Amino acid sequence: MREILDQLEMRRNAARLGGGETRIAAQHSKGKLAARERLDVLLDEGSFEEYDMYVTHRTTEFGMAENKVPGDGVVTGWGTINGRLVYVFSQDFTVLGGSLSETHAQKICKIMDMAVRNGAPVIGLNDSGGARIQEGVDSLAGYAEVFRRNVEASGVVPQISVIMGPCAGGAVYSPAMTDFIFMVRDSSYMFVTGPEVVKTVTNEIVTAEDLGGAKTHTSKSSVADGAFDNDIEALTGIRDLFDFLPLNNRERPPVRPFFDDPARLEDRLDTLIPDSANKPYDMRELILAIADEGDFYEISEAFARNILTGFIRIEGETVGVVANQPMVLAGCLDIDSSRKGAKFVRFCDAFNVPILTLVDVPGFLPGTAQEYNGIIKHGAKLLFAYSQATVPMVTLITRKAYGGAYDVMASKHIGADVNYAWPTAQIAVMGAKGATEILYRAELKDAQKIAARTKEYEDRFANPFVAAERGFIDEVIMPHSSRKRIARAFAMLRSKKQESHWRKHDTMPL
Ligand code: HXC
Repeated sequence: MREILDQLEMRRNAARLGGGETRIAAQHSKGKLAARERLDVLLDEGSFEEYDMYVTHRTTEFGMAENKVPGDGVVTGWGTINGRLVYVFSQDFTVLGGSLSETHAQKICKIMDMAVRNGAPVIGLNDSGGARIQEGVDSLAGYAEVFRRNVEASGVVPQISVIMGPCAGGAVYSPAMTDFIFMVRDSSYMFVTGPEVVKTVTNEIVTAEDLGGAKTHTSKSSVADGAFDNDIEALTGIRDLFDFLPLNNRERPPVRPFFDDPARLEDRLDTLIPDSANKPYDMRELILAIADEGDFYEISEAFARNILTGFIRIEGETVGVVANQPMVLAGCLDIDSSRKGAKFVRFCDAFNVPILTLVDVPGFLPGTAQEYNGIIKHGAKLLFAYSQATVPMVTLITRKAYGGAYDVMASKHIGADVNYAWPTAQIAVMGAKGATEILYRAELKDAQKIAARTKEYEDRFANPFVAAERGFIDEVIMPHSSRKRIARAFAMLRSKKQESHWRKHDTMPL
């Protein structure tokens, strides 16, 4: 018996070594952790249960019969994060560059199937040279099996991708169909075709970092939702995000203990809005003042900075925040901010996360660049996402809510449950200056008359009361009581239930 047990231990140790010590050292020298080390950081200590560590590929071509490593370049299984179940895979670059073979894909598919059946999220740690070249179509088929499962799991269990090395070719499409993508600065990149192909086809000379590094994808393409400085920060950051999310679409997000009075008053908010309507202020200050312990987990921070998206907790419960940011482009809605907001709203709605919307929006960004690139369709995505959302929704207008953007930003009309405004709110078709210039074009040359007309318009519309008179705003609240009022609103909405009509799926504007 002892011999049998020793043999098992030997097999396990061989599998744990992956591509061997030299390759693990090479991985370390690039500042990267090995596949199993990453799981040690991501999961609770001792919680990881590994599956399929003895699986090897079955290819014989290109001398592959001699090149078999137990585990076949990916470590899979399940574990816990702060005691909650999660399925994981971690690609092992030390084994054939973490390339994806038929069996490598089968291992990933197995844990994805279990995740959907058992209702728990999947976190994928990607570090791979893509399709295993020696296997040809078998590896492409393997990818497609993973892709299909990504789609089947979408909206059922949260899926998180962390890019921790190369991720090229069609391999990027599995992460692309997950809910969140995070990258590691300077050691990860994603592209459909690499710099060499780009040079051949388009004559462009570009580095891998510029083409598909963390900066490119977090600030330009919006493919990635965030970036971290190194593997450890990335993995601990993912643990923090995980704590905000429910395990699946039938559960609520976890409730964390909180040590922050929900009725806390914030006098500083009474002076947050500047005297002049054109002066910016930092909407993040309001978010931090509302959140339990001032904790805001921002999503897509570096992209479309005119809108803020992310998670906070109120009375220990997760709330998704969407907020116009007057500091950037006056907080207007444009193509990028509409897409960013829409994606976030849809995630929250799919996973029972209530939505808080903070509004200070001068309207949609005008211009040919916006129109030619389809602001109509992209703006409609945000409108569609909010209109479809059935989770509890609370909206607070702090200052401007002009034109179509008023409707879009979780107005009462498209389904928000509770709509608050500060006394500084201005809810109108447009700002006073623009409005008087259109209404009184004939009087434009008479500065005195125009000033009087502008004042008249401001007196009538530059306030929340016209909307409140119609019941579109439920209450005009004191800025200092925002946390208390919003916390009470969400508490009142806890048992909200709203069914949608049956349909195969919608045809949202894409
Ligand atoms: C088989 C691979 C491999 C692959 C890397 N390796 N990628 N083996 N299939 N796709 C092996 C290498 O041969 C090498 O083995 C080891 O992994 C480490 O690779 P290096 O090149 O030494 O590492 P590095 O210099 O860090 O470069 C990493 C890399 C490069 C940039 C990822 O390996 C690379 O360009 N690989 C090919 C990428 C690619 O074109 N993949 C196919 C994409 S198309 P030895 O034994 O020599 O150490 C695709 C289609 C998916 O993925 C379709 C889905 C629809």
